[in-house]
This record gives sequence, structure tokens and C-alpha cells, in this order.
Amino acid sequence: MDIFERIAGNRGPLGQYSKDAHGYYTFPKLEGEIGSHMMFRGKKVLTWSINNYLGLSNHPDIRKADIDAATEWGLGYPMGARMMSGQTSKHEQLEDELADFMEMESCYLLNYGYQGFMSAIDALVSRNDVIVYDSECHACLVDGVRLHQGKRFVFPHNDIDKCKTQLDRANKIVAETGGGILLITEGVFGMSGDQGKLKEIVELRKQGYDFRLMVDDAHGFGTLRRKRSRSW
Ligand SMILES: Cc1ncc(COP(=O)(O)O)c(C=O)c1O
Repeated sequence: MDIFERIAGNRGPLGQYSKDAHGYYTFPKLEGEIGSHMMFRGKKVLTWSINNYLGLSNHPDIRKADIDAATEWGLGYPMGARMMSGQTSKHEQLEDELADFMEMESCYLLNYGYQGFMSAIDALVSRNDVIVYDSECHACLVDGVRLHQGKRFVFPHNDIDKCKTQLDRANKIVAETGGGILLITEGVFGMSGDQGKLKEIVELRKQGYDFRLMVDDAHGFGTLRRKRSRSW
């Protein structure tokens, strides 16, 4: 029986399958040069699972920049969290360049997507706020939402009517708490490749729904249109 069939219907701890899954479903080892084809268990395979959409990771200019940086500063630089002792003018330069690229006023750079989203959600809401989010949001968003001490309502993936229903529910609550609504979705959903319904969501604002919007664009950034909507 396939491991997925055995897991389906089993309510016990998933760890019991780790031996079967290790090296295949979990911790798979892709070897060779990063690219569209890599070696997996001695076979050349097509790689669908790496975050190299723009094909830049192995670009000679990028590799050279890595080498130059390591030669100039060493791999340990700058030694410390940015907030404490690790801030550098290179961080600031990258933030300025990313903000220009996105045509935004400013940008804040975080080392990891996962922790970045969890902490950004925490920074954006108080217990008086309500979060409304898409059911297929990435695990980092779901974990961020779980930390939220106020109410949270999920809507079925990309279902704008159900999203409106949840916004209505959220509205009733914030009318009492004095908080606001944070709507969370993605630009391109990582597992299905669907695009988030951002136009329709922006349209809801024009229809009078009041909320702030957070978009995880891990899979859309740089691959789709980069200009922000002027109508927001
Ligand atoms: C949609 C989405 N958001 C956030 C993350 C987390 O990013 P990171 O791997 O940089 O922590 C991922 C990772 O795959 C992702 O797919």
C-alpha cells in the first residue's frame, strides 16, 4: 500500500511513517547544479519543487556577487540580528532598491518568509482586530493567524461571495471592539498555482468593505506584473 493510502484515515501521529517517507517524500536529496533538471536517487529528474522561478540562483553574475561579497566581508558578516548589531548599509540599499522595484514608499527586509509572515501578522493586529483569510493560505500565514488573540474567519479558497460573508461577520465584531479587519491572501498560491483574486478583493473595498489587505506574494514576486494598483 502507498504511504499516502496508509496515512489517509489514520489519526495517529504522522511520525510513525517517517522511516518510509525519509529521503523520498520528506528530506528528498536533489543533487547537482541547481536547474530545471537535477539528480534524484541516481536519476535525472525534472525539478518542480525548487524556488528558482526566475532561474537566477545559478546566474553567473549572482554567483560572482556571492564570491565577491564573501571575499570582501567573509560569510560571518555582519554577526548579529539587525535590530541589535547586524544592520548594514547593504541591507538598507537592498530595501531601497526593492521599494523602487515595487513602486512603494519603503520596504522592510526579513530573512525568512515563514517567520517574516508570522511576525508581520502579529505586528499588524491587536486582540480587537479580526482576521479574514483564504483557506489555502500557506502554513506560515495559518500559523501567524493561530497566534492572533482576536477572532479569525476563513473563507473557501478564492470564493469571493463567502469572503464577503466572512467580512460581514467580522464587521459586526469590529463595530463592537473598535478594531479593524485584516484580509490575508496570496498573489499566486504555491500548491495549486492559482492566482489570488486580488482584483475582486480590491473591488470589495470600492463596494464599501473596510479592511487592510496582506498579500503573500512568495510565488508571484518578480514573475507577474510588478506595479501596484493605483486604484487601491
Ligand atoms: C506562499 C509562501 N509563503 C511563505 C513561504 C515561506 O518562505 P521561506 O521558505 O523563505 O521561509 C513559502 C515557502 O515555500 C511559501 O510558499
